[in-house]
Amino acid sequence: MIAGNQLPILFAALLFTACNFSFKGNTGNDTVSETWDEAKPLQEIYKNYFLMGNIISPSDLNTMRFDLLKRHYNTVTAENHMKPSYMAPSANPASDNWAYRFSEADRIVSAALDAGMKVVGHTLIWHSQSPAWLTTGNKETVLANLEKYVSEVAGHFAGKLIAWDVVNEAMRDGLTSADANGSWRNCLRLTDSGWNRAIGPEYIERAFLAARAADPHVKLYYNDYNLNNPNKARAVFNMVRDINERYPHAGGRPLIDGIGMQSHHHIKTNPQTVETSINLFSSLQVEISITELDILAAGKLLEGNPPWNNGAAQQQADQYAAMFRIFKAYASDITRVTFWGIDDGTHWRTLDGNGGHGTLLNKDYSLKPAFFSVTNP
Ligand code: XIL
Repeated sequence: MIAGNQLPILFAALLFTACNFSFKGNTGNDTVSETWDEAKPLQEIYKNYFLMGNIISPSDLNTMRFDLLKRHYNTVTAENHMKPSYMAPSANPASDNWAYRFSEADRIVSAALDAGMKVVGHTLIWHSQSPAWLTTGNKETVLANLEKYVSEVAGHFAGKLIAWDVVNEAMRDGLTSADANGSWRNCLRLTDSGWNRAIGPEYIERAFLAARAADPHVKLYYNDYNLNNPNKARAVFNMVRDINERYPHAGGRPLIDGIGMQSHHHIKTNPQTVETSINLFSSLQVEISITELDILAAGKLLEGNPPWNNGAAQQQADQYAAMFRIFKAYASDITRVTFWGIDDGTHWRTLDGNGGHGTLLNKDYSLKPAFFSVTNP
């Protein structure tokens, strides 16, 4: 029993604790009270909800970055080294033996598996980071290239991966609701997709069929960005529903296993739009994964090029918290949440000059407020 005159003291103590906690993370200048190797592992915090992932590069192997990955994440995705431009940068299409470059990806996969982590394949068929030779030629040639590429690359990694992003970013930007409610085939990018130009919309299902045949157990995903946009979400919904209705028993199950919501967000993204799309996709009875999460809080990609400071760090923390409250609420629909970047220093938006400080860790690996809102949203 607390005596009445002790209440103000208790209240002051609680207030002190709360304030102290909110100053734990920082933007780089304050003293850090907890380090990444002391903080409770994110993967442990979320073990009853979904897998926790981040990206990996060959240069991370045998460094503290690998230790960091191993502590906080149970799943890795190669940031670049399993993309077509790395797998098959040049080849002689006339030859049956294409010059695949598997060695870097193999190092990543075996190091991750040895460390007890799961690995996601990213990505087989994409309009970007893919060599032009793959999509050069008439329909017959390019379709043969697609089937050969998918079956040989998925075949190479067969049995080692939990999922493949089979097709990445096939939908074009700027879809209207009329587009989205029409045929999904007319929503696909065309001028900037060598695959669609040469083969037509059928390239999508052909890629999934080849992947299913090459590795029957790996989960096959369609992956895209801005899936919180209702029109893009509707187009993807229509495509996945149609393909799965036409291929309900591809190797014993519907052809497309999952939808990957990349989730490159910023502090002004409306979390409600994310929830609406998760709801929509869950009605398809497919897996949903958050595949490339980052939340920009500053920089050129945001209106007015806002600076990175304590206010931005707090807004970012609030946004991460809002997203994770939704992910937790929909945990039964969400298989995995993968971040696209370990720290701000090596984040792709830092390296491409846009900035934004999108990750959970400062470039010196100290924990940002965003880290603590993920641990406790
Ligand atoms: C990015 C990488 O992070 C960069 O290093 C690379 O220069 C460009 O690609 N959508 C995707 C990812 O599916 O593969 C992209 O990764 C980010 C956007």
